[in-house]
Amino acid sequence: MKANVTEIASDIFRISTFHPDFGIQFNQFLIRDEEPVLMHAGLKKMFPVTLEAVASIIDPAKLRWIGFSHFESDECGALNEWLNVAPNSQAVCSFVGAVVSVDDFADRPARPLNDGEVLEIGRHRLRFLATPHVPHAWDAGLFFDETDKTLLCSDLFFQPGDPEPLTESDLVGRAKESIIAGLSSPLANDMPYTPYTDKTLRRLAELEPQTLAVMHGSSFRGDGRRAITDLAGVIKEALG
Ligand SMILES: [Fe+2]
Ligand SMILES: [Fe+2]
Repeated sequence: MKANVTEIASDIFRISTFHPDFGIQFNQFLIRDEEPVLMHAGLKKMFPVTLEAVASIIDPAKLRWIGFSHFESDECGALNEWLNVAPNSQAVCSFVGAVVSVDDFADRPARPLNDGEVLEIGRHRLRFLATPHVPHAWDAGLFFDETDKTLLCSDLFFQPGDPEPLTESDLVGRAKESIIAGLSSPLANDMPYTPYTDKTLRRLAELEPQTLAVMHGSSFRGDGRRAITDLAGVIKEALG
């Protein structure tokens, strides 16, 4: 396995590894700044591949923050490996994530963020939004880079296979196919439709992202408000 690296926005690098056993990509995003951030630690078993890719961009020992949306192995399985490689690094996640899972699992305590808090990392400002159960899990949250208007989407806009790094054409159609196919898969019911689902997605759309950094599948550049609003409609129709 080898990762492909693509700069999808200014100093935001998509590190993508296609895993043939799963038939999907696992993507991490490295934000190169004074305090470098790796968004998604990746699976523990894929750590050497991700490490090699990060090392092609920055010195991995200089990583400051390991961020993620929710407590699952593709989000934070290799967290302790990163904490070991980068002595000044720290996990950064939701308050719920830190208290419920991460501070027991991780070798060092996380920095917990509350809804709306900003993580200043240099040129980029990352605003944290608590998004419980979007895309899934109680502890879920998402980071929005206010500087260049990039939303780190975690599992939203999931697409299977090994598609191109970045597209300016429709992502919602592909995401819709995945949502429909997922309904009859062994991994069905990943996203519960709650009283907050639509409100949460519409709040994300209001951020007017210009880039959507997607964990599984292509990232998107274009009208993020439109894409998220359309996705909210698809989710409501399929799951609501
Ligand atoms: Fe997930
Ligand atoms: Fe994921």
